[in-house]
Parts: sequence; structure tokens; C-alpha cells
Amino acid sequence: MIPEALKNELKARVAAAVTNREAAVDVMKRLQAHYGWLTDEGVHESAEILGMTTLQVEELATFYEMIYRRPVGRRVIHVCDSISCWAMGGESLMAHMAGHLGIGVGETTSDGVFTLLPCCCLGNCGEAPTMMIGDTLYGRLDSARAGQLLEEERAAVMGEMEGGR
Ligand code: FES
Repeated sequence: MIPEALKNELKARVAAAVTNREAAVDVMKRLQAHYGWLTDEGVHESAEILGMTTLQVEELATFYEMIYRRPVGRRVIHVCDSISCWAMGGESLMAHMAGHLGIGVGETTSDGVFTLLPCCCLGNCGEAPTMMIGDTLYGRLDSARAGQLLEEERAAVMGEMEGGR
């Protein structure tokens, strides 16, 4: 169950929106951040906050690829597989990431740090190939830079875990 303060903050966000649906992604993302992924409980709470049915929330949750209805690692990596990135080596980038992490696409590392997912265009086509780690976008990637980013992110996650976050 989410804290009352967070629930009230999200209800205020919904009240300020033109339509409840407009606030749905914000609400789902905040609940996802709270639970680590959008749990069934999170769907029910989102529905209550939004004044929508759980089925309506479920439909939206499964439509947006940044909303996770299954457990994910502490950092989700989205590698773009749309046309510009594909043409600029996106497949090789994905293969490199999978090899570096020792997982397949759609899987999570055994230490729970990374989940690797493909995604549609991230709107950064001019800097293809592109990926997102958490909320941060990276472009013009090659294997060396991608490997370096993974190590930096892993170190950051370890720091967060040691700090109890
Ligand atoms: S095609 Fe990859 S960011 Fe647009």
C-alpha cells in the first residue's frame, strides 16, 4: 500500500488534469517507482486514484512500454530497434548488451540490477543507435561506450543499495 501522502499528491495531480486519463501514465509511473514494477496492487491503487476501472488501467499499462507489469531490475535498459537505430547498428548494440550482461533480451540479470528490453523509436534518431538506461537517454553508441555505461550504472546501483535506497 502506498503512503497516504503519495496518494494525496497523486489525487491532486489527477484533479489538475483536464481528463483523468491524461494523468494515468504519471500515476502508474509513480506507483511503479514505489513498488519497483506495476504490481496488481499498484493497478488497483492507480484505478482508485484515477477514478477508472482496473481493466481501463490494465489496458493503458500494457500499451505503454515503459510501464512494467512484471518484475524488472533496478535499471531497465531499452535498446531502440526502430529503423534509424537498426540501420546504424542497433542489432549489434543489442547483441553486445546481451553478451555483456550474460542474459537474453527480455531477461533480468541474476543480481537484479539490469533488465534488457527492445523498444520503439526513442525520438533520438539523429543520434542512432540509441538506448535508455532508467530515464536517461544515450546516443551514438558503440560497444565500448555501452560497456562503460553499464559499469557506471552498476556502480551507481550498488551505491544506492549500500545507502539503503
Ligand atoms: S529510430 Fe532509434 S531513436 Fe528513433
